[in-house]
Amino acid sequence: KSDSTYDYIVVGGGTSGLVVANRLSEQKDTTVLVIEAGGSVYNNPNVTNTLGYGQAFGTEIDWAYETTAQEYAGGSSQVVRAGKALGGTSTINGMAYLRAQAAQIDAWETIGNKGWNWKNLLPYFKKSEKFQDPANYPFLEGSGVAFDPASHGFTGPVKVGWSSTQLTDGLAQKLNATYQHLDVPVPYNRDANSGDMVGYSVYPKTVDADLNIREDAARAYYYPYQNRTNLHVWLNTHANKITWKDGHEATADGVEVTLSNGEKTVVKATREVILAAGALKSPVLLELSGVGNPQILSKHGIATKINLPTVGENLQDQMNNGLKFESKKTHPSDKSASYVAYPSADQLFPNSTALGAELLRKLPAYAAQVASANGNITKARDIYRFFKVQYDLIFKDEIPVAEILLSASGAAYSSEYWGSVPFSRGSIHLSSADPTAPAIIDPKYFMLDFDLHAQAQAARFIRDIFKTEPFADMAGAETTPGLSTVAAGADDKAWSTFIYSKYRSNFHPITTAGMLPKELGGVVDTSLKVYGTSNVRVVDASVMPFQVCGHLQSTVYAVAERAADIIKEQQ
Ligand code: FDA
Repeated sequence: KSDSTYDYIVVGGGTSGLVVANRLSEQKDTTVLVIEAGGSVYNNPNVTNTLGYGQAFGTEIDWAYETTAQEYAGGSSQVVRAGKALGGTSTINGMAYLRAQAAQIDAWETIGNKGWNWKNLLPYFKKSEKFQDPANYPFLEGSGVAFDPASHGFTGPVKVGWSSTQLTDGLAQKLNATYQHLDVPVPYNRDANSGDMVGYSVYPKTVDADLNIREDAARAYYYPYQNRTNLHVWLNTHANKITWKDGHEATADGVEVTLSNGEKTVVKATREVILAAGALKSPVLLELSGVGNPQILSKHGIATKINLPTVGENLQDQMNNGLKFESKKTHPSDKSASYVAYPSADQLFPNSTALGAELLRKLPAYAAQVASANGNITKARDIYRFFKVQYDLIFKDEIPVAEILLSASGAAYSSEYWGSVPFSRGSIHLSSADPTAPAIIDPKYFMLDFDLHAQAQAARFIRDIFKTEPFADMAGAETTPGLSTVAAGADDKAWSTFIYSKYRSNFHPITTAGMLPKELGGVVDTSLKVYGTSNVRVVDASVMPFQVCGHLQSTVYAVAERAADIIKEQQ
């Protein structure tokens, strides 16, 4: 392997990497190598089982990254999971297929990324998707599933729909009735993937409805194409850093890797190196390659190739909590629900107008606090601009401000929930020049009080659901946290003890190599090329400039599809 040369090297055979590798290798005269640290999980039941969410956690296919002690959230550290396998995190995720509110993608353009808007991205959402019409699956009768054909793609690689494990006992309809009976109803939304997410929906999943197995990036983009002679995958191979051409400022000519037998070697790329190692790896690989903040790099004896201090900054994630209630009825354990509510600010907050005015007043102070907590590497004035865009999304465009997932199993109802668009921003940086050393990941969960307020208000909202008919009559007592732990009418402070002790990462880290104008602290330009390099791109969740209200994978697939077209156009 040691003297191999390829046109393109894709680092990371995950959700994004396999899209790019597949599309580039459609060109028969183009050779593509994918370097993937994990192995194949084609026959791993922890992956394929559509009811197996969580079974892969803590196994060899979970990177299980760890954060620093989270000082604003009670002091404990958090595990941030990510898939280490061909297919990446799509092999261990919750399979929810939910996009973004159109205005959120439009905001990517508002902040300075010309051409990145909902209208331009929608064709790529569709290009990646093979929607399975529920009408062809009689086992879905009673499940309450619905969709809008105009919003979906039917001939792409990723199978999306509902499998035979979907709950079909009428709960979907009862939950909808409950949402309609709330003081401020959350309207029924036939299809949350149309660009308008607000409302209650039965959402689709990345699933093979015929086989009832998980659909992941490898099943969609790799295995059906693995016989292409120009598409190569090195499994169990760890990428250590980019290597640079002699005499040229910043032109990559390959990647240093450690092979499965422990041998180190350099594999050459004649055209481009594309980092697709995920939001918690790609920025670290840039730093290991000399791209980043000279102060951080020099501490670890790494020579600066490109002075780009915002590599690894702007880290955003969401925080996930759960409430549980007794159920009067016993629900089947071999079925699962996919019920989501996306309330807007008016639907979640009883005092939305006043809250918005207060938040607007606080934004400059928030921006200053974020900048200072991150060592002023990102500038308060830039962060203020991001925050103002985010504020407008919440209070003018009325995007969802929370996500409420409800499920039923055995004699219990459980709800997972999170504020959709936290303002807190943290960072990730390397801890050592050793490429296998864990990075310093500090999301700064709950740094800003709006984030706690949204999280606490979502919990109150869930309590309201269980006080509203018909759900009120179907459920028993609240078991987590329970009224003796968090009293009815508790304020944010009282909720915070429960929230901080029980929250987890929502596993949606983004913006660690953000697509933003350079002068605003961007790491990649609108062609996803790293500023200052001639041929290095980042194509994965790292580049997304703002959080989306759906889950990440559908947008990750769409961005990677568009990236592949951009790369082809520019070659
Ligand atoms: P991804 O992680 O897919 O790919 C990176 C790849 O690079 C991996 O294969 C990794 O092994 C490899 N790699 C890393 N470092 C390397 C190195 N040095 N050398 C070689 N290879 C390296 N989203 C959603 O839409 N619906 C959902 O239900 C959920 N649920 C969910 C649950 C859990 C537990 C998690 C962790 C995440 C989710 N998500 C989700 C999020 C979503 O799955 C995720 O954001 C995307 O899959 C990320 O895609 P990327 O391409 O950015 O990275």
